[in-house]
Amino acid sequence: MNRFLFVLGKNWLLSLAELDHVLKNSIQFKGRITDYSANVAIVEFDDLHEVRLYINKLMELQYILGGCQKIAEIYDFIDIQTVHFAFPLQIEKYKQIEVKRKEILKVIDSSLKKVFPSIRRESLFFAVSIYPNLYDDNYYSEVLLKHFLPFLNKEIMTLLKENGAKKSLYYKYPQENIDAGNLNPIFPHHIIKYGLFNKDRAEIIFGFTEEGFYIARTLTCDDPSFKKHVDEEKPFKEFKSAISPKLSLIMLNFLNLFEQREKKIILDPFVGNGTILLFALIEDFQIFGTDINETKVKNTERNINWLLNELEETVPYMLNERIKRVDINQLSSVLKNERFDGICTEPELGPFYTQTPYYTEIVDLIESKLNPLFKATFRESFKVLAPKGRISIIAPVFSTIDGGEVQLRIEEMANFYKFKLVPMLDLNRIVNKSNNKLQFKQKHVRSILDAKKSQIVKRKIYVFEKIDESS
Ligand SMILES: C[S@@+](CC[C@H](N)C(=O)[O-])C[C@H]1O[C@@H](n2cnc3c(N)ncnc32)[C@H](O)[C@@H]1O
Repeated sequence: MNRFLFVLGKNWLLSLAELDHVLKNSIQFKGRITDYSANVAIVEFDDLHEVRLYINKLMELQYILGGCQKIAEIYDFIDIQTVHFAFPLQIEKYKQIEVKRKEILKVIDSSLKKVFPSIRRESLFFAVSIYPNLYDDNYYSEVLLKHFLPFLNKEIMTLLKENGAKKSLYYKYPQENIDAGNLNPIFPHHIIKYGLFNKDRAEIIFGFTEEGFYIARTLTCDDPSFKKHVDEEKPFKEFKSAISPKLSLIMLNFLNLFEQREKKIILDPFVGNGTILLFALIEDFQIFGTDINETKVKNTERNINWLLNELEETVPYMLNERIKRVDINQLSSVLKNERFDGICTEPELGPFYTQTPYYTEIVDLIESKLNPLFKATFRESFKVLAPKGRISIIAPVFSTIDGGEVQLRIEEMANFYKFKLVPMLDLNRIVNKSNNKLQFKQKHVRSILDAKKSQIVKRKIYVFEKIDESS
C-alpha cells in the first residue's frame, strides 16, 4: 500500500489533530495516521492512492489543510537501530558503521529510481530535507546535520552518476546554519522557485520518527505567498492581534464540512476585519458575518469585495445581506430566518496587554465582560445552527503576574447551552510515543493552545457540537 508523508505546521499537535480529523471524517480522503513525530505524519489512505490522478487529489487536500507544509510519497523506510549503528552519537565501532551505511545506501539507491523516473543521460538536481523527530534533539544538531546531511548529499550525487546521470547537483544549505545546528529544511516557496516538482528535480525528504526514517519525494506543497497576499494586502487589517490564515483554515476544517462546501453556510458572529470569512470564501463556503461594531462590518465588506475582485469572481454577492451589524445578544432574533451549517469564530478576547496583568484584573474582566459574552455566544449559536451543527471557537488563556494562567470555564458554559465537546484528537486513532514531548496523556485531547510561550493572551481552540435533542 502507498504511504504518504505530511510535513506538519509549526504547531504540530494542532496540525496532527487537523489531519486526523480530515482523514477520519471526509469521504474522499479517508485514511489513518500510522506514525508521527513533531514534524511529520505518516498517512495510509483507504483508497485515495488507487485513484489514477492521486497527485491532483493530494493537491486538493494540501489546499484544504491549514497545518500542512508539504505532502510527499514514501518509497522506503530504515529502522532507527540501523540509523544509530550507522550514525552513532559517539563513534566506536568503525566496521559496523561502514556495514550499516552500505545497507542504508542500498535502500536509497532503489528509492532514487522512483524519485527520478529517468536517470540515464539526465541532468538532475535534488534537495535533501531532513525532518528530525524533534528539532531540539541533540541527535539532530550533532549527528543528522553534521554527518548525515553531507553523507546524503555526496552519496546521492554519486549514486545518480553511477546510474548514468549526465550531471547531478544538490541544493546547498547555508553552512552557518548547519554549524549552529538550527537548520530548517527547504521552505515551500523555495521548492516552487527551484522547480522541485519537475521530473528532473526533486526534494528528497528523510522524515524521522521514533521508529526510524522514511524516504519520500515531495509531490505538492503549501502556497504561502497566496495566503500571505490575502492576509497582508487586504485593505483593512490589524496585525497586532489578528488570527492567522492557517489557524482560520484549521478551525474551518473542524466544522466537519468536507463535501459540497459551496452549499454550506458558515457564520462568524465576531467578524472583525473578516479574516476567517476571507479564508472560508477561498475554501468555497457560503459566508455570513456579524459584529457589533459598524466600522468592522464595513471593513469586512470591503475586504471581501477586494478578495472577490482578486479571485476574479464574477458572481454577484449579496454582501450587505450577509455582513451585518448585530450584537451577539440579538443574533437569533435578527437572523431568525437563517440556519447555519457551522460557526467559526474568535470572540472578543479582552484588551491587548503590553504588560502582564494582575490576577484580580483578569478575574474582573472575565466576570464582567467575557463570561456574559461567551455565554451569549453559546446560547445564540444553538438557536441559529442546523441540527448537529458545530462551533469552532477560540477562548483566551491569560498569563497573570500573581495567579498563574487564568481561563474561562468554556466547557461548562457550552454544556449548559446544550453543546457537547468534540475532542480534537481521538486517542483510539493514534499510536502513542515514548518521548515525553510527543506523548498524549491518558485522555483525548480536548482543546489545543495556539500561542508562543511569552504571549500574555494565548488562544485556545475548542470544538463543540450541538446536542441532538431528538435522539
Ligand atoms: C477578536 S475580534 C475578531 C477578529 C477577527 N477574527 C479578525 O480576524 O479580524 C472580536 C470582535 O468582536 C466584536 N464584538 C465585541 N463584542 C461584541 C458583541 N457583543 N457582539 C458582536 N460582536 C462583538 C468586536 O467588535 C471585534 O470586532
